[in-house]
Amino acid sequence: MGIQFDESSRMFHLSNRFYSYILKIMENGQPGHLYFGKHVKGNGSFDYLSERAERSMSHYYRENDYSLTLEGVMHEFPAYGNGDFRHPAVTVRQQNGSTISEFEYVSYTVTSGKPKLEGLPATYCEKEDEAETLHLKLKDRVTGVSAELLYTVFRDYPALARSVRFMNEGKEPVWLEDAMSFSLDLPDQDYEWMQFSGAWGRERFLKERRLAKGIQSVESTRGNSSHYQNPFIVLRRPDTNEQTGEAFGFSLIYSGNFLIQAEVDAWDVTRLLIGINPFHFSWKLEPGKIFQTPEAVAVYSDSGLNSMSQTFHNIFRSRLVRGYWRERPRPVLINSWEAMEFNISEEKLLRLAKCASECGIEMLVLDDGWFGKRSNDHQGLGDWDAVRDCLPDGIAALADKVERLHMKFGIWIEPEMLNRDSELFRKHEDWVIRTPERRMSPCRNEFVLDLGRCEVIDYLYDVLSKLLCSAKISYIKWDMNRSITELYSAVLPGDRQGEAFHRYILGLYQLYERLTNRFPEVLFESCASGGGRFDAGLLYYSPQGWLSDDTDAMERLKIQYGTSFCYPLSSFGNHVSMSPNRQLLRKTSLSTRANVAAFGTFGYEMDLTELAPEELNEIKIQVKAMKEKRDLFQFGTFFRLMSPFEGNITAWMVVSPDRKRAIIGWYRFMNEVNAPFHRIRLMGLIPDCRYRVEGSGPQNELVLGGDELMYIGLITTDSSANGGCPPEEMQGGDFDSRLYCLTAEN
Ligand code: DGJ
Repeated sequence: MGIQFDESSRMFHLSNRFYSYILKIMENGQPGHLYFGKHVKGNGSFDYLSERAERSMSHYYRENDYSLTLEGVMHEFPAYGNGDFRHPAVTVRQQNGSTISEFEYVSYTVTSGKPKLEGLPATYCEKEDEAETLHLKLKDRVTGVSAELLYTVFRDYPALARSVRFMNEGKEPVWLEDAMSFSLDLPDQDYEWMQFSGAWGRERFLKERRLAKGIQSVESTRGNSSHYQNPFIVLRRPDTNEQTGEAFGFSLIYSGNFLIQAEVDAWDVTRLLIGINPFHFSWKLEPGKIFQTPEAVAVYSDSGLNSMSQTFHNIFRSRLVRGYWRERPRPVLINSWEAMEFNISEEKLLRLAKCASECGIEMLVLDDGWFGKRSNDHQGLGDWDAVRDCLPDGIAALADKVERLHMKFGIWIEPEMLNRDSELFRKHEDWVIRTPERRMSPCRNEFVLDLGRCEVIDYLYDVLSKLLCSAKISYIKWDMNRSITELYSAVLPGDRQGEAFHRYILGLYQLYERLTNRFPEVLFESCASGGGRFDAGLLYYSPQGWLSDDTDAMERLKIQYGTSFCYPLSSFGNHVSMSPNRQLLRKTSLSTRANVAAFGTFGYEMDLTELAPEELNEIKIQVKAMKEKRDLFQFGTFFRLMSPFEGNITAWMVVSPDRKRAIIGWYRFMNEVNAPFHRIRLMGLIPDCRYRVEGSGPQNELVLGGDELMYIGLITTDSSANGGCPPEEMQGGDFDSRLYCLTAEN
């Protein structure tokens, strides 16, 4: 790992054993980009990469000098309006209305480790020798605004972190209108663009298309990262698959309005911009003030998409997630929501807890409905200091009773929102986000508190701290059920209203930071009507998140599959729910529901007290198996094997760090008549090891070589494949699933 600067060519070579990232201060003082990809040693200078051409209709940097045109070179930090007509990484609006700026090289320093980003989530180092950071200082001469580009190279990961720290060193205020975290000009357009899109109940479905001339993007304009698009994309070469080929992944560590955009220009150069969405963003920077952008993380892989995802999993799991729960196995829980919704009572909850405890479940989570007058979703939201009358002995007594059943107790909150019909609204209507003299658009009967205001954060911190101190609460499910409309902050002057979305997110992060610091052993799970804010920003505060409100096992395969491209299994909140499923009415077996939910943090969300003894028995076995294997299910190396977006069968696997244990999840949507033979080639095993295969399908109880399992494959053909099988010997049916466990014998 190292960051080298060649004084004579003014070239920076950032590298580790995986990749090289090369940039150069061009003859006009601006930083130009030369290369990002597989590690190269080079022979000193990479100047030959600065290809130049004198083209008709070019706009040149200087008069009577045709050597440099800004539209014809690759940039590191492009501004608009000086001959480069592509979308910029930075726009500074000045008091006279001008938006022209030019950021030129001033100086650089290299520091070991990685600086903390003030008020923002980011990857981190535990030891100085884990990373090196280049601080590249640039300045716009006319406004005096400086930009420090921060690049961190990690020793152990093919990952690069990039953010920008602006400082107004001038005499007049300016407004940042584009302040992108990362911009990268790639020399060609030969990529497939992979995005993870959806809606409520079908979050992060994989969508792919070939990069084309012009602009393609994903973004959020809703105030939260959203169900609709995720702040993560992949560019892969057309022939790249899960196991081979080049891929770049880009994740923005941010939970608010984002933009990830690729612009392919006339000469096939692809400009990637990643950062806060400039749409409705404008940040006033007074002289002497600083603005820090969120961090973007780029991962390079030359060995396929699984390897790219594993890098994200490793770095996010160990250098983004923090604290007590980072490496700890997560408790098996029972959540009250789908079992009871608002119809809760202490008696019902304790009956559920007792039954759960007998099944070996470790925590009861009391979801929505426990506070104020919250007997439905029209009222009570915001009244965190009052317990609902259906829990007459209060939360502390309930938590004690749950603990006496040898379980932990967790609770649901939605601190950012409130109902009109709540004490909080009656007392502090002025804290609600609304535009003067305009109506407010409700969503789920809720309105939004202005988290950009210090007094709102202080209030929420106090009321939630009191709640957490008042009872033995081991877990918090932090929900958020609407986006922001009629945005306006009553505490900001007119020329600062463009800051309101970002200030909201900064307030959210501050609240999380204060609460997680004060209650380090409480496990936080983020949620936003399912997966409406499942992003890397929140992973810094809450190590796990509820993936989706769709608990149908088969549909969830797609959600888990799409999510796995960026996020680690330890962050997946998965529950087994009732059949027929509440969202789809689909009937699936208890074992299929558990076999899907097992890959992640595991729980149940159903009324166990209504189940037959055989079903409870099955749950006992599932919970026991989950506890024995959760190190693998939550922290193992994950491989996607077969995609639910491509065929009838989905398969994936996890492998232990020593590669001696593995679990394969196999799932089939519809049964087939007279089906072909099937086998799946496994990944990540030791070729020379002999593995005992245990599971419910063919090849169960065989001992097979790692080489056989990877190069020939695990046979998964049903006994019914030839169509002539007697019914009593037939297996499966629709929505079938199996888990195969492999254990090395040598
Ligand atoms: C939306 C969440 O996604 C659900 O799991 C549940 O907590 C409800 N909110 C409660 O209102």
